[in-house]
Amino acid sequence: MSRTTAIRKIPITKPYLGPEEREAVLKPLDTGWLVQGPYVAEFERKFAEFTGARSAVATTSCTTALHMAADALGVSPGAEVIVPAFTWVSTANIIESLGGRAVFCDVDIRTYNIDVSRVADLITDRTVGILPVHLFGLCADMDPILELARARGLWVLEDSACGFGAWYHGKHSGTIGDAGCFSFHPRKSITTGEGGMVITTRPELEAVLRSLRDHGASRTDLQRHNAKGGFLLADYDRLGYNYRMTDLQGALGSAQMDRASFVLRARAEGARRYDQLLAAVDWLARPVTPQGYVHGYQAYVTLFRPEEPTLASYERLHERRNRVMQDLEERGIATRQGTHAPIALGYYTKKYGIKAETYPNALVADRLTLTLPLYVDLSADDQEYVVNELKAAFARSA
Ligand SMILES: Cc1ncc(COP(=O)(O)O)c(C=O)c1O
Repeated sequence: MSRTTAIRKIPITKPYLGPEEREAVLKPLDTGWLVQGPYVAEFERKFAEFTGARSAVATTSCTTALHMAADALGVSPGAEVIVPAFTWVSTANIIESLGGRAVFCDVDIRTYNIDVSRVADLITDRTVGILPVHLFGLCADMDPILELARARGLWVLEDSACGFGAWYHGKHSGTIGDAGCFSFHPRKSITTGEGGMVITTRPELEAVLRSLRDHGASRTDLQRHNAKGGFLLADYDRLGYNYRMTDLQGALGSAQMDRASFVLRARAEGARRYDQLLAAVDWLARPVTPQGYVHGYQAYVTLFRPEEPTLASYERLHERRNRVMQDLEERGIATRQGTHAPIALGYYTKKYGIKAETYPNALVADRLTLTLPLYVDLSADDQEYVVNELKAAFARSA
């Protein structure tokens, strides 16, 4: 009789959910108030407190958060906004959806974030804003971006989808520019299923954001409900959206906030363990954390580089990286490319005739990043197993 050993299954991530979250999502069912009610407000309060923001505005996703924040900051038809060339596509899409133009800037291959030395050359008289991304939990270099923006009269919107727990010289991501947006998708450190948040340093923007997420209403359903004259609808004096978070998500987010510090510590510990296990592996570039930054480790993203990636070598290296990833998949270990480069995606290449090679670092990052599993319940033994299998898969891929 043949005996098979069960293969160890290691997913790329796993949300940290327990009885606290289970209990929390049931609470709105008792109150009967299911949308943008007291639990959303509680989540917003805890989020603002954690990040040091004045206040926070919950939405349905980071994409919708970015959409209404860019709308509030102003993107007139034809206006240009500078975005990194390696980021999730919605960073650029929301600008295009508002009738603007996403102008791509190559990234720094060490940090995967916007290459600040290239931004100034992309500014034209149509530029209205800069949209840096804090990719994988590492802040973009915000000081030179802010300096440039102030000098040229531009707004700065931070895409902090991955930036929860990411700090830049003592400031939490999202609190540095005019506004910052977060994601609570299950691939992020804390989750509400789908969900997002906007924080802003400009007090006058907050009311606009609260109105925009609620069809442009002058007051919320809850305010109407609690006030006399609630039988009358609000006024709707701006073009808004329905980007309201449900109270089930709010309650879940609030429970996740209570464990956020623990989750972030556990992720940072996992990242440190990978750093040690991979210290002698010279064909992978590990994540970097420049002086004065705290990495939030939304993901542990490495760069596959058995040799210097160039425009001549990256496709060959890409094929080899994929063989390694497939080999790991067959052994039950999930890996992923970091994210993608919109400059290589159909909508943008067709609309603007972009040659992806114009953005060599974004292209290399798109083709050669390799994300390792990272989540609270990932044990030290699991991590050793991942790294041993990774080394063996690399040896087999030659
Ligand atoms: C950099 C970046 N921006 C925006 C988003 C969109 O977030 P959401 O899925 O919450 O809309 C993501 C999602 O992964 C992201 O990584």
